[in-house]
Amino acid sequence: MAYKLKLKDPAPPVSVEAWRKLARRRLPDLVWNYLDCGAEDHVTLEENVSGFRRWRLRQRVLTGVTNPSLATTMAGEAVAMPLGLAPTGASGLSHWTGDIAATRASEKAGTRAVLSTASVYSLEEVADATEQNHWFQLYPFSNREKVGGLIDRAKAAGYTALFVTVDVPVLGNREGERIAGMTHPWTLTPPRLLNMASRPRWLYAAMRRRRLAGVHYLEHAAEVKAQTLAGGLRRVIHGAGDDAIASAENQARHMQSDLHWDDLAWMRDHWKGPLYVKGVLDPDDAAQAVDRIGCEGVVVSNHGGRQLDRTLSSIDALPAIVDRIGDRAEVYLDGGVRRGTDVVTALCLGARGVFIGRPYLYGLAVAGEAGVSAILEIFRSDMARALALMGCPGVAALDRSWLVNSHGGGQF
Ligand SMILES: Cc1cc2nc3c(=O)[nH]c(=O)nc-3n(C[C@H](O)[C@H](O)[C@H](O)COP(=O)(O)O)c2cc1C
Repeated sequence: MAYKLKLKDPAPPVSVEAWRKLARRRLPDLVWNYLDCGAEDHVTLEENVSGFRRWRLRQRVLTGVTNPSLATTMAGEAVAMPLGLAPTGASGLSHWTGDIAATRASEKAGTRAVLSTASVYSLEEVADATEQNHWFQLYPFSNREKVGGLIDRAKAAGYTALFVTVDVPVLGNREGERIAGMTHPWTLTPPRLLNMASRPRWLYAAMRRRRLAGVHYLEHAAEVKAQTLAGGLRRVIHGAGDDAIASAENQARHMQSDLHWDDLAWMRDHWKGPLYVKGVLDPDDAAQAVDRIGCEGVVVSNHGGRQLDRTLSSIDALPAIVDRIGDRAEVYLDGGVRRGTDVVTALCLGARGVFIGRPYLYGLAVAGEAGVSAILEIFRSDMARALALMGCPGVAALDRSWLVNSHGGGQF
């Protein structure tokens, strides 16, 4: 299912940035800001991207390399390339096919997706709609019974690895979301409703399919009352909007803000498969996760710059964490990966693989599953081309000797 260019599309979407521009045109402001904005001044959000650009890749010539190999393993599974889909909550806001489309596209590309706790399809629905085993991301609820219940369901549905997200003790200050009305509950003023109405295709699918809300939160939402949907569209989007509000409120209410290492140790006891801590930026934390708790590894991540602004970018945090635990644990990275050369750089610095968040949501927003597939194909071909141009036989050969210091000359 290839994406067919529409007449009104500004240019063929050949890069992640081109897909981003298309997605911006298709989504209402409220959703766009949820998807694309970061915390406060976007310092970390921007450095996630610009941090990669400070690195220079070594180029060897006359190596005879023609078809570099991208195959590797991630979280114990063989994958066709070292890139998977990061968990994103409420992906149905981008396109009603949400998690199912993204997960299907990932398996067609020979890789895997991490399903969010805040997914718009349940972990069983996604497992039923796909063929491979995928991975599950856990937002710890304040109630261990609920956490245990979700872990058991993930196990029963065939998910093979668990990613516990630990960087949301409270929600980051995403001013862009608040300005656009993406508050808990949504603040829908007449201009915002008009803006939604100006994206009739999106609005129709949102009303008809009602995949706007985190279903695992909705399951616990019985006691939560939907509150404000002001203005003329209240009756029209009644239902879909109420679900989203209940889900968001429930998520905020049930998130465990005083999460502690002992809670992680309890999860470690409960989940026997590979366990990764997502949202680690400090080598001491990475060492605790691996040496004290017994996790298989960590995801170096700042939640895509959506939590603490002015914390380290992911790529800047990566080397010290690899130096600390890389000899005995797997280190993954997400945040700011927009090019195949970004993936290559992260692997040179010791990451086993990377995950993308926003890039596949852009594809999803524009063209559902075909859009996610197109994004994955851009990364696959970018990586293969970069390795061929570097004269590197495959991702397994990448290490720090493939980075050159553009200032002092020579290798790292
Ligand atoms: C719209 C959106 C929703 C997200 N939802 C979740 C989530 O439910 N769970 C989670 O662990 N991380 C979530 N994240 C963070 C991503 O998993 C990932 O860390 C981040 O998107 C990577 O940065 P990138 O968007 O620059 O690729 C979300 C990110 C975005 C953009």
